[in-house]
Order: sequence, then C-alpha cells, then structure tokens
Amino acid sequence: MFEIQDITHLNAALNALSVFFLLLGYYFIRAGNQEKHKLCMLTAVVISAFFLVGYVTYKLNSGFAKFGGDGTIRIFYFSLLIIHVFGAIAIVPLVPLTLYRALTSNFEKHKRFARWTWPIWVFVGISGVVVYVMAVHLYPHVPI
Ligand code: HEM
Repeated sequence: MFEIQDITHLNAALNALSVFFLLLGYYFIRAGNQEKHKLCMLTAVVISAFFLVGYVTYKLNSGFAKFGGDGTIRIFYFSLLIIHVFGAIAIVPLVPLTLYRALTSNFEKHKRFARWTWPIWVFVGISGVVVYVMAVHLYPHVPI
C-alpha cells in the first residue's frame, strides 16, 4: 500500500533526477548544443514542479522528518539544512526569471541569471538528497 510517508522517497528520487538533467543541460550548452540544453532544462523544470507538489503535500500531512543524530553530525545536518532551505527559497524566483529570459530569446540576460541559478539549483538538489539520506536512512529519529 502506498502511504503518505512514501512520498518522501519519491521526492528524493525526483530531486536526484532534476540534478541529473541540470548537469546534462550544462554539458550540452558547453558543447554548443542549444536544442538539447533547452530540452534538459525544461525537463528539470517540469520534474521540479512535480517535486514541489509532492513536497508541499508531504509537509502538510507529515511535517518534517525528525533527525536522530547527536553531536557533530547533528551540527553538520542542521547547518546543511539551513543553507539548503535558503538556497531553495532563492531558486523560487530565480528559475522562472532565468527561464523567461531564455524563452524570450534574451540570451545575454539569460546567461547572467543562469550563472547564479544553475549552481544554486544544483546545490539545492544535491543537498536535498543528502538531507533525505541522513534524516530518513542514516539517522532516523527513534521515539522512546
Ligand atoms: C531555468 C532553466 C535554465 C537554466 C538553469 C539554464 C542555465 C544555463 C547556463 C548555466 C548557461 C551557461 C551560461 C554561461 O555560459 O556561463 C546557459 C546558456 C544558455 N542557455 Fe540556458 N538554462 C535554462 C533554460 C534555457 C532554455 C529554456 C533555453 C532555450 C530557450 C536556454 C538557452 C540557452 C542558450 C542559447 C545559452 C547560451 C547563451 C550564450 O552563450 O550566449 N536555456 N543556460
């Protein structure tokens, strides 16, 4: 049976998949292939939109996964989580702005936005997977 808790695994998978397309899209633009760059970036945007729906659904129903680790690892986890959240907030306006510049063929401005959007987005995606693995698999909170 599919339970609400399972959305968290789906979210992490969507997150990882969007990072894959972001890396591939970067590779294509460096190789001069604009069409494949466009396809990869639009795919990353669509996957991230599904992720966002899953994320909000999960948070509204289950709240945040509690972290069970102690000591240094706890400091590392929460530091990473805070930077991850700030990055995630930053890409909410940055992604549509970067996309809009590209779709209106304003590639000079697209490039200027993209130099911020792309690295922050990749960081948010990778740190999201790390946070998921740490909180759900490595150090889950065990109620006493
Ligand atoms: C939000 C999604 C997107 C992101 C994050 C993104 C990211 C990037 C990055 C990192 C670059 C390289 C910038 C540099 O040279 O330093 C770039 C260049 C470029 N992108 Fe995108 N891109 C996105 C969507 C698109 C779309 C949808 C198109 C096509 C309509 C597109 C067309 C281009 C073109 C033509 C360039 C080369 C610009 C030039 O060198 O003059 N991008 N993009």
